[in-house]
Amino acid sequence: MLAELLHALAHFYEARAGTDEIPMLDTVAEVLIGITEGESPTAPEPGPLPVVRLLEGVDPGSDGLLAAFLSVAPDLPWTQTRAYVDSLPAEFLDNYGYVRLVGSAGVVHSERASIGIGVWGAGLQYPPHVHPAEETYHVLAGDVEFRGADGVYRALGPGDVAHNGPSEPHELRFGDRTCVVAWAWTGEIGVDARLVG
Ligand SMILES: [Fe+2]
Repeated sequence: MLAELLHALAHFYEARAGTDEIPMLDTVAEVLIGITEGESPTAPEPGPLPVVRLLEGVDPGSDGLLAAFLSVAPDLPWTQTRAYVDSLPAEFLDNYGYVRLVGSAGVVHSERASIGIGVWGAGLQYPPHVHPAEETYHVLAGDVEFRGADGVYRALGPGDVAHNGPSEPHELRFGDRTCVVAWAWTGEIGVDARLVG
């Protein structure tokens, strides 16, 4: 159920908020807790994309958020960033997509944070991109090499986080398994990502 997924997300970010390291997570947790304390959201119209098929091979293990996501994923409205649809190859587009659970155009409305979960297939390269919103990526499944503003690639796996300041270019190289990532934006959330370089 969507409500269970939102609760799992709220727990996930609440557990990661309150540290000096990434203050934006306080905002993300606050928005999600507000949502879970409000009225139950209306179930959205399902809008699957080809990437959903990759989730059949993902083992949730003991991760409550991943399990909640996998159980409702086919019924969620999936999307892709407009600029990528116009410029990235079919191989990327057939193996990539995300759900915007919270945001100005999310399943649940918020102007303070945009929060969702994305999936990338094994071996994909996500080219350098920027957006004016500040961002975190938390890896839920799979392995990824993340390169941020310092230009250094870092290997991330389940439990790891990457953080981007506003308009810092970043790129990702996905490993040999399907990668599931919880992402969150704060600040200028109304402007889409665009490719750079
Ligand atoms: Fe990003």
